[in-house]
Amino acid sequence: MKPNDLQIPQLRVQGFSVIKDRVCYLKSPSKTTTSDASTLTTSTDPFVFPDWKHQDLFGNNQPVKIEYCSGNGGWIAAKAIDEPGVNWVAVEMKRSRTRKIWAKIKNQNLANLFVVNGEGEFATAKHFPKQSVDAIFINFPDPWPKRYHARHRLVKPSFVKMMAELLKENGTVTVVTDDEGYSDWTLKIFKGSPHFVSSIPTPHYTTEWANYGNSYFETLWREQGRVIRYHHFTKIAE
Ligand SMILES: C[S@@+](CC[C@H](N)C(=O)[O-])C[C@H]1O[C@@H](n2cnc3c(N)ncnc32)[C@H](O)[C@@H]1O
Repeated sequence: MKPNDLQIPQLRVQGFSVIKDRVCYLKSPSKTTTSDASTLTTSTDPFVFPDWKHQDLFGNNQPVKIEYCSGNGGWIAAKAIDEPGVNWVAVEMKRSRTRKIWAKIKNQNLANLFVVNGEGEFATAKHFPKQSVDAIFINFPDPWPKRYHARHRLVKPSFVKMMAELLKENGTVTVVTDDEGYSDWTLKIFKGSPHFVSSIPTPHYTTEWANYGNSYFETLWREQGRVIRYHHFTKIAE
């Protein structure tokens, strides 16, 4: 069935965050992009995000890996098929793209894939259980190349700290981008973090990663001859 033929659960009716049938709708605060984490956690929403092993999420104790900015979910749905021993979480803020990911879950019966419709930083600050995730992936985040738009970039010091809190010991973050400026920015932000070390030697990125998987934007940029940079960071033990 095509995504539009499937009826994604009506989640906004109550005005609160809710989980239903493999999708979670997170009610965002009015300001969704802020570098002040404290404003992200003050919300009147009574919803409590459950443990990943809760029946409404995965119902088992498998390792959890998250992709932020999942788009239409091509990369993460393929991962869920290739690695059934992992519970995969897609985080996507656009409703139309969330619907496409959800349709993949339903059409392909992917019990180990769950989609969160919400803003990544807010979801992490307010909802996701700390030290519960094994690996984080950010594939082709919006680059926001203009300097005065930098606050909109997902990779920033406050979010890097949140990812460190979300990850288990030795957890990893992979950031993939075709944008040289965003790559340099990512390396600078992670270098300034006491929580992570690059797992790739200088220049701290690689342009080839066998069997990494393909996303819509990866395929698009490769067809246009753009160079893809893969960055990989490991959480330092505290
Ligand atoms: C350039 S697309 C990449 C999509 C996909 N990863 C791919 O490679 O095809 C970026 C996606 O990230 C989503 N996005 C951007 N900022 C986000 C945020 N802060 N939280 C959640 N999703 C976000 C956008 O809605 C968009 O779908």
